[in-house]
Amino acid sequence: MARPYSYILQHKREAALSHFHLPFPTNMIKLGLLIRGTALLLCLLIFRAAHSLRLAIKQKWVPPFRLKVAGFASCQVGPSFPEWLRWQSDIDVLVLSNANLDDVIPDWFWVTFSRASFLQASGNKLHGSLPADLQHMSADHIYLGSNKFTGQVPRLPINISRLNLSSNSFSGLLPSELNAPLLGEFLLANNQLTGTIPSSICQLTRLNRLDLSGNHLTGDIIQCWKESDANSTNQFGFDMLSLSLNNNSLTGEFPKFLQRSSRLMFLDLSYNRLFGGLPEWLPEKMPHLKILRVRSNMFSGHIPKNLTSLDSLHYLDIAYNNISGSIAWSLSNLKAMMTVVSEDTEDYIFEESIPVNTKDQKRDYTFAIYKLLVILDLSSNSLTWHVPEEITLLIGLTNLNLSNNQLTGPIPNHIGDLRQLDSLDLSFNEFSGAIPSSLSALTYLSYLNLLYNNLSGAIPSGQQLQALDNQMYIYIGNPGLCGGPVGGNCSSHNAEQSGLGDMNDMPSLYIAMSIGFVVGLWTVFCTMLMKRTWRDAFFRFIDRTYDMVYVQVAIRWAHVMEKTQESAP
Ligand SMILES: *[C@@H]1O[C@H](CO)[C@@H](O)[C@H](O)[C@H]1NC(C)=O
Ligand SMILES: *[C@@H]1O[C@H](CO)[C@@H](O)[C@H](O)[C@H]1NC(C)=O
Ligand SMILES: *[C@@H]1O[C@H](CO)[C@@H](O)[C@H](O)[C@H]1NC(C)=O
Repeated sequence: MARPYSYILQHKREAALSHFHLPFPTNMIKLGLLIRGTALLLCLLIFRAAHSLRLAIKQKWVPPFRLKVAGFASCQVGPSFPEWLRWQSDIDVLVLSNANLDDVIPDWFWVTFSRASFLQASGNKLHGSLPADLQHMSADHIYLGSNKFTGQVPRLPINISRLNLSSNSFSGLLPSELNAPLLGEFLLANNQLTGTIPSSICQLTRLNRLDLSGNHLTGDIIQCWKESDANSTNQFGFDMLSLSLNNNSLTGEFPKFLQRSSRLMFLDLSYNRLFGGLPEWLPEKMPHLKILRVRSNMFSGHIPKNLTSLDSLHYLDIAYNNISGSIAWSLSNLKAMMTVVSEDTEDYIFEESIPVNTKDQKRDYTFAIYKLLVILDLSSNSLTWHVPEEITLLIGLTNLNLSNNQLTGPIPNHIGDLRQLDSLDLSFNEFSGAIPSSLSALTYLSYLNLLYNNLSGAIPSGQQLQALDNQMYIYIGNPGLCGGPVGGNCSSHNAEQSGLGDMNDMPSLYIAMSIGFVVGLWTVFCTMLMKRTWRDAFFRFIDRTYDMVYVQVAIRWAHVMEKTQESAP
């Protein structure tokens, strides 16, 4: 499903130009006034040409004008921090993103721009630390993400509404007093922050986007909850749209304040040490949830009954927990998974990217790419009983992983209806019966895993199945299977015999093959020397035989091991 990078770029650009991340304050009227009647240096919108545009200005130059707005996005301003800006204290909007800066931010910067409202210098190589206290700054937007800053996170500007310090190397504790009542967007992902999340965060009642993922935070996850203020509208979490606390070492139960977050679309709590149940109120209180990741925690209990009432949910990952019970919920309510997404599906773009585990690889997807994934990953839990046939109604699914549970019964017969599937992993369960022949209808499938189940009968033929990379290893651990890459004669097969029949045929086959080989060798040898095509065909035959023998041996071995384990009490 990977889309070309240019596609992502285009989306990012559109996003930057449209709603979520306006490079300027949302207050366009104000901006218009600023532009009129002031000198304006702007190479912001020359995206393509930008890379060749170099600003060569002498360090000692004192400009004869006073700017209100200075935009140098993607211009070669660096590597040193532009000294001439020192005298531009009237600047209200400063954009220095991706400007090739490789320097520390000089001390005068925080004085000169203490009254600016918009400071953007992300995507450079700025290093050193920030002043310990930025409370005196007037800025409402500060973007310093994707640099190389170190040191502690400063005390926040009092009127700040968006702060992005993600993807730097900030370390130490978060400021204990998070005094910024207007803060809506607080992004600190991918740093090296330690310690606990200060309880003063509960005072940030306007937060709509919080990202503390990819740090080393410990202690209790944010709860911010008193029964008494359950329905209050000006409490922490009420405006929350997106919450990422993943990849830390947080403990505790599922955050209670989320009961207030009725607008939440994105929730990622994965890779922490959270425990307890997934709350029954989750579906009811967060009806707009699109993405839910709680992967790799210690959640237990059942999947909340009404989870399937989340009709916007298209990404559900509860893998690597201790969830038990069955999947016997009414899956057909998951409307968003019953829809095939296309690239023009309406967008909700945020800038950060999160790793998605598909096909054993960690890849970084931006949200733009995210919306194209329809994922159901329930793997590595303790789920039991059958998979409802209804699952085949989720025709939008691109990835389905039920691996490593204790699921029984047949593979749903109409599995082939899931036409969008890119990967299907049913390995390490107790599925039995035949592999539905509809499986071969999955034309986008690039990964299939049926290892170690109790499947029997013929392996469906089909070009797609034969084209899979891991063809040889899909079926191991299912002693009753025959045909396809496993080989064996399906007509003489049945579940009881499970291959013992051809175990007896095997030696004679090998003997016949050897005799044929020895006799044939001398006859064929001379001809092969003469004729190239014959030579090629011969070696292809050898290869195939080797593969077949390998798989046979692996399967017998698994079978024997299983029998041994069964007979050992
Ligand atoms: C914050 O905003 C208030 C109200 O607009 C204003 O009076 C105050 O001066 C601002 N503080 C700073 C440090 O800019
Ligand atoms: C499915 O989940 C299992 C265990 O959780 C994991 O090992 C496997 O790589 C996953 N399969 C895919 C295709 O991602
Ligand atoms: C395997 O499947 C067969 C039916 O196909 C069933 O009789 C048998 O009990 C199953 N074995 C296990 C270990 O689940």
